[in-house]
Amino acid sequence: MRKIIFVTSNAHKVREAKDILSPLGIIVEQNNCGYPELQEEELEPIASFGAKHASNKLNHEVMVDDSGLFIEALCGFPGPYSAYVFDKLGNKRILKLMEGEENRSAIFRCVIGYCRPGEEAIVFSGEAAGKIARSIRGSGGFGYDPIFEVGGATFGEMEEEKNMLSHRYRALVKFVQWLKLNR
Ligand code: IMP
Repeated sequence: MRKIIFVTSNAHKVREAKDILSPLGIIVEQNNCGYPELQEEELEPIASFGAKHASNKLNHEVMVDDSGLFIEALCGFPGPYSAYVFDKLGNKRILKLMEGEENRSAIFRCVIGYCRPGEEAIVFSGEAAGKIARSIRGSGGFGYDPIFEVGGATFGEMEEEKNMLSHRYRALVKFVQWLKLNR
């Protein structure tokens, strides 16, 4: 069995990655060692730098995940600053910022960075287009899930469905296709 170390402090991300990668015979092991997060407008360089740094540190093949919520009416905010904004404002205040706004369109992006020690990182990105809900709904998932709606339900209201249409799922599918060809 092949083991990939997932460098993240987020157990929810690990659970979602395991659900998708374990049936393919890939063991995903969480490691909290962390990595420097570049301040960039795009997620790709953040994931790429993090994966390379962590794989050299752990001397093992690793994956990292950098995700962000891009709200159209807010010019793409919070985007790459999603973690900071979630910690400081949270879902309630994001909804407050969106009060009276009719354009609720948003995109969730996920970039998986993968790297083997001594090599360059490769990135795989996935997107889910949705809407910012008008209220917080659902207790499933994590982070922005209760305010991000796809097809009328928030990710927080979904069970397994999130893993079949999420930004993370779409990035992981590309990662898996690459892994199959590059064992
Ligand atoms: P990061 O990738 O850990 O920097 O995540 C950015 C922010 O988006 C954090 O606040 C996460 O909790 C949140 N986030 C990342 N992925 C998801 C997701 O799948 N659903 C909801 N929130 C997410």
